[in-house]
Amino acid sequence: MKKILITGGAGFIGSHVVRLFVNKYPDYHIINLDKLTYAGNLANLQDIEQAENYTFVKGDICDFELVCGLFSRYKIDGVIHLAAESHVDRSIKDPFTFARTNVIGTLSLLQAARLAWEADEKGYEGKRFYHISTDEVYGALEMGNEFFTEQTKYDPHSPYSASKASSDHFVRAFHDTYGMPTIVTNCSNNYGPYQFPEKLIPLFINNIRNRRPLPVYGKGENVRDWLYVEDHARAIDLIFHKGKVAETYNIGGHNEWRNIDLIRVIVRTCDRLLGNAEGASDDLITFVKDRAGHDLRYAIDASKLQRELGWEPSLQFEEGIERTIRWYLDNEEWLNNITSGDYERYYDEMYRGR
Ligand code: NAD
Ligand code: DAU
Repeated sequence: MKKILITGGAGFIGSHVVRLFVNKYPDYHIINLDKLTYAGNLANLQDIEQAENYTFVKGDICDFELVCGLFSRYKIDGVIHLAAESHVDRSIKDPFTFARTNVIGTLSLLQAARLAWEADEKGYEGKRFYHISTDEVYGALEMGNEFFTEQTKYDPHSPYSASKASSDHFVRAFHDTYGMPTIVTNCSNNYGPYQFPEKLIPLFINNIRNRRPLPVYGKGENVRDWLYVEDHARAIDLIFHKGKVAETYNIGGHNEWRNIDLIRVIVRTCDRLLGNAEGASDDLITFVKDRAGHDLRYAIDASKLQRELGWEPSLQFEEGIERTIRWYLDNEEWLNNITSGDYERYYDEMYRGR
């Protein structure tokens, strides 16, 4: 039986990974360690929370004693590390929280894994530490045909991407220094159900449904490469099991959209699904002050992953975005629960004066 520690499993991507592993591998024990920050939500995992092969632990990855205790109690042999502060705008306001969770938290997990695995009679044999990272560590591309590859030099610009870059370096250092069997993947923008509605796609769907302005940063010309979250979860499963130790794999959708073009698709689709007249929500589109240090373009070359492990995205974007918008419109209660209270205050502060 494999015992796998998944961190950040109550968040957006983590909840899809936990669900996939709990359902697909009944003989694994999945331990989900999550602090339940504003972004963590156990409602994301309601359908599997009673599963026999699943345990939830509320806790902070920076709490070294707690993490060491989990390794010794559950005899963890695999880690899939997703816990992080993940929103660029929040990192601009509060960089310390990002350094703490993303850097110190990752180091705390690495060190706990090292101590436990080095003390194990089999050592690192059969063990794996898989760190989930982002394409933002590579910096920004110009418009054109260039892509981020696994060889692209790190050049982070936001406190978020700087903290993720730092955590990636720590993971690789633990391989090079201690021989820990690590893997790092760098993925592009994910979209799909259960994403916290501060990120572009769910924020805009929620605002359209509430007839609130849609704040487009700058001229809306920045480009992102969008991947359906379940395709990312499938890639994580494949790489966790078949990826080569010490390697890096880029994961992406080969699906670039200029923000403003994507926003028009969201507006049109929402209006259609809400039964509004065509163009009814166009007036909500509002150009606001740009994000500081806003990276112009991200685009991933995922050919290594396709060549070596046979992965490619399974869902066409047109189908994925329609499925996603329907999900948020059908799950009003989920949205209402997390957009009340503290989030309202954050929203006011974030967009006041923009
Ligand atoms: P998210 O913000 O939705 O979820 C993060 C989860 O981590 C939450 O459940 C939160 O409670 C938990 N968490 C935060 N701090 C913690 C701490 N100190 N201890 C324990 N748990 C803590 O994030 P997401 O969008 O699902 O991203 C997951 C991972 O994937 C992150 O590492 C992120 O950098 C990476 N990533 C995200 C994207 C994307 O488009 N969302 C793309 C590429 C990579
Ligand atoms: O590329 C991977 C990254 O994608 C992940 O590592 C991050 O965790 C994730 O948050 C995401 O980062 P982005 O900054 O690209 O995502 P966000 O949804 O915040 O913004 C997408 C684009 O939309 C970006 O160019 C900024 C713009 N935007 C965003 C918001 C929230 C707006 O124009 N208006 C908005 O209100």
